[in-house]
Amino acid sequence: MRSLRVAVAGLGIVGSETVRLLRSRRDCLRRRIGAPIELAAVCDRRAPERARRLGLPASVRRLTDPRRLPALRDVDVFVELLGGLDEPRRLALACLRAGRCVVTANKRLLARCWDELRGARARGGGRLWFEASVAGAVPVLRAIESSLAGDRITAVHGILNGTANFMLSRMEEGLSPEAALRRARKLGLAEKDPSLDLDGRDAADKVSVLASLVTGAWLDPRRIPTRGIRELDARDIAFAGEVLGRRARLLGMVRLDGPAGRVEACVSPFLVPREHPLAAVRDEFNAVMVRAASAGELMFYGKGAGAGPAASAVLGDIVAAGREILSGKAAPPAPPAAPAPRPAAADCAFYLRLSALDRPGVLCAITSKLSRFGVSIATIHQPATGGRDACVMITTHPAKPEIFGRALRAILALPAVSRRHAVMRLLS
Ligand SMILES: NC(=O)c1ccc[n+]([C@@H]2O[C@H](COP(=O)([O-])OP(=O)(O)OC[C@H]3O[C@@H](n4cnc5c(N)ncnc54)[C@H](OP(=O)(O)O)[C@@H]3O)[C@@H](O)[C@H]2O)c1
Repeated sequence: MRSLRVAVAGLGIVGSETVRLLRSRRDCLRRRIGAPIELAAVCDRRAPERARRLGLPASVRRLTDPRRLPALRDVDVFVELLGGLDEPRRLALACLRAGRCVVTANKRLLARCWDELRGARARGGGRLWFEASVAGAVPVLRAIESSLAGDRITAVHGILNGTANFMLSRMEEGLSPEAALRRARKLGLAEKDPSLDLDGRDAADKVSVLASLVTGAWLDPRRIPTRGIRELDARDIAFAGEVLGRRARLLGMVRLDGPAGRVEACVSPFLVPREHPLAAVRDEFNAVMVRAASAGELMFYGKGAGAGPAASAVLGDIVAAGREILSGKAAPPAPPAAPAPRPAAADCAFYLRLSALDRPGVLCAITSKLSRFGVSIATIHQPATGGRDACVMITTHPAKPEIFGRALRAILALPAVSRRHAVMRLLS
């Protein structure tokens, strides 16, 4: 009986767990695929040492250079778990151009090289699977691609970065942002470079993957308005809970504007009403809400990162790829690129915290900047601080994000206003 031969590139957090599960669940995977699954090769800078630690038999080839992988003619599925961009890009393109099958968990690769990967697939006939790249074990990409293939998706939004959500959950309990980040790092939740989590860029890559999948046209993450949680502190979290009855959550959002063909995407901290399902999502959990014309609102919830959840999604892709390969069916052709949707930005209410000199006329100067740009104030609070600086918290009525941004720049240019500030959107 023919077996499914797999090569795993990257034996780090996800790669090691994937290899461990491939071996320990061999019998169960065999039943699911209908053929034995065989680990043919592993590739890692420290492949010999890591293979030994994983107890791999001598029959598993150990490579240290990912560029040698595409030359392995007997491999059916290449699993890319290297992280980063250059080597994964080279490996994925080489395999896809040669009509091979690639499984990856790399959101950065997909977000940056979507069109290139699609082109390589279209030319070479290869196949690309990437469930683990967004929300880890939460099977939201497959639901969009398969279960909802007959529906029209109008919006996808949710908590896509477990580290930011973990930090916001700890800040709700009174921890400082610095202590919350330390705790996340201690638990191995934060990216090696925590700015990817804190500045929202990790979430923007995932929004790019979701938007590209839903629209069929690549949305470059660099074009997604992105704001992270770095500027938030205990005052914002307390004000949100005590005064507004809301919780801060970093959300990624894609909204499609039906026949007008416009797409709105953003990453931002949002103030979510306490009774909203996303407000109940705590710690490192992810939750993605998908709105479809016929199905209505669906919610997907689970662990978005970690060795087990990511490896579970990778294994699911290997099984799906294996079934397709062993059935002898040709891989479906790469979908043609859809025309790039025009960007849109729906009106949205904002929360703004400012620090300004506590002296007569300053509050008036701030509010008149907002009114000059036509941004209407909903509430304004100035808790007593007793110091020389006042803290001003403003919520607005819905305004165009671009107009609000211009008003904010004008406010921050006032000499009495500090440049340190915080902005969140209000989820309606
Ligand atoms: N960790 C998660 O929870 C999670 C969840 C979902 C998706 N992902 C994605 O999964 C992928 C892997 O993540 P990870 O956390 O497992 O990363 P990781 O722990 O850093 O593992 C990557 C492994 O690949 C090796 N490697 C990298 N570049 C190489 C090269 N050019 N040649 C040979 N070996 C190389 C690394 O070796 P060195 O250590 O020597 O550099 C390391 O052993 C990433 O794309 C990540 O975004 C991760």
